[in-house]
Amino acid sequence: MSALLDSLDDSLPGGELGTLLSYPPELRFLAARGMGSKLYDEDGNEYLDLLMGSGPLILGHCHPAVMAAAKAQLEQCSTCYQPTASIAELASLIVSASPCGEKLRFVTTGAEATYYALRLARAFTDREKIVKCAGAYHGCHDYSLVGFMAGDYDPLAAPVNSAGIPEGSSRTVMLSDFNDLDMAADLMQQHGDSVAAIILEPILGVVPPRDGFLQGLRALADKYGCLLIFDEMITGFRLAWGGAQEAFGVIPDLACYGKIIGGGYPTAAVCGREDVLNLSVFANRANPDYVLFSGTFYANPMAAAAGAATLRELAKPGMFDRLNQVGEAIRSGLRDVIDEIGISAQVVGTGPVYNVFFTDQPIVNHRQIMSSRMDLSRDLLLRLARERVLISSSKGWLSTAHDEADIQQATDAYRKCLSDMVEAGLL
Ligand SMILES: Cc1ncc(COP(=O)(O)O)c(C=O)c1O
Repeated sequence: MSALLDSLDDSLPGGELGTLLSYPPELRFLAARGMGSKLYDEDGNEYLDLLMGSGPLILGHCHPAVMAAAKAQLEQCSTCYQPTASIAELASLIVSASPCGEKLRFVTTGAEATYYALRLARAFTDREKIVKCAGAYHGCHDYSLVGFMAGDYDPLAAPVNSAGIPEGSSRTVMLSDFNDLDMAADLMQQHGDSVAAIILEPILGVVPPRDGFLQGLRALADKYGCLLIFDEMITGFRLAWGGAQEAFGVIPDLACYGKIIGGGYPTAAVCGREDVLNLSVFANRANPDYVLFSGTFYANPMAAAAGAATLRELAKPGMFDRLNQVGEAIRSGLRDVIDEIGISAQVVGTGPVYNVFFTDQPIVNHRQIMSSRMDLSRDLLLRLARERVLISSSKGWLSTAHDEADIQQATDAYRKCLSDMVEAGLL
């Protein structure tokens, strides 16, 4: 280990970055560079990267078109608190791709995007309550963490998965189960008049919606006069050009984007109805329903240049077919491995994201995830890291850079790790 790697313990709490991905000291490394589907540490060791930066790198590391756009922008200006050509291009690409897109505001992170979407919905409806799905992650802000790791819960007083969150904030959030339209309908029947928005990930992490679920939520939002917000952080420009909205044929009032739209640099956006987004127009700042947005790095030119280059690549024919194929290939490879070894596990996912859950129950929502053996999922993640295959704690992320050899390498590593777990008596 290098001295710099050791020094992380002196400067960072727990020697880690403070994300949901944490390794014990013996598995830590300093990432030195990435290329395509691979990441390399400072000693030159190669890792098969199924993290892809936690999702942004849909074209893999250092895609030439993205590199060229970022380098060109870097020589012009890295940040300037003014619109640039790259910002104008990215905004117009997203607005035209997003089925609900009429206008858009840039922010810096996905958490901010969902946070502002809720603020807009509250201002627009003059109501306070939010309905979210149990188990959904919308970033690390106070409202999102209500019920993030809920098992059994009271929909009106769900557990909050962090200390330091005021009860006044958490009690404005009500929970409903993903893929359970009856539960959402009951909640709305009792509280719909005070609900500003229903927010959800159109796929819950990796779990796809049942037929009619998203359509049913759209109808409930219309019936009770609240907004429907899709968090397209995972699905946007990943399942299809028009994201989950196109893939499942449901149009929300607002859609939140992040990850892919920055091409590997930090940016995110709230996109959707003009009448809602116009609440944030500076000239309206004296209005009682004015919604204040501001941030030093909002609409960062580096992220805009890299993001626009990424979207231009994704607009080329066959890109989403390729992403779906690579996702299907790993899911079917892993199902074969699980059958071959004879263990009880579910491979879940859609498009180029997947995960393995240790349960014999089909995964429909967070309830089955919470009752799956999450300790074994963590064990598997660490074993894979020892084999130099990196996944995140919630899923594996694929990109257009992953090829058949990568899928083979991944399935071989899973086979070895799962067999070792059987041998160790864990499965
Ligand atoms: C569905 C979803 N929403 C929001 C976020 C938060 O985005 P960020 O990490 O950029 O704040 C994430 C991040 O993983 C996510 O997966």
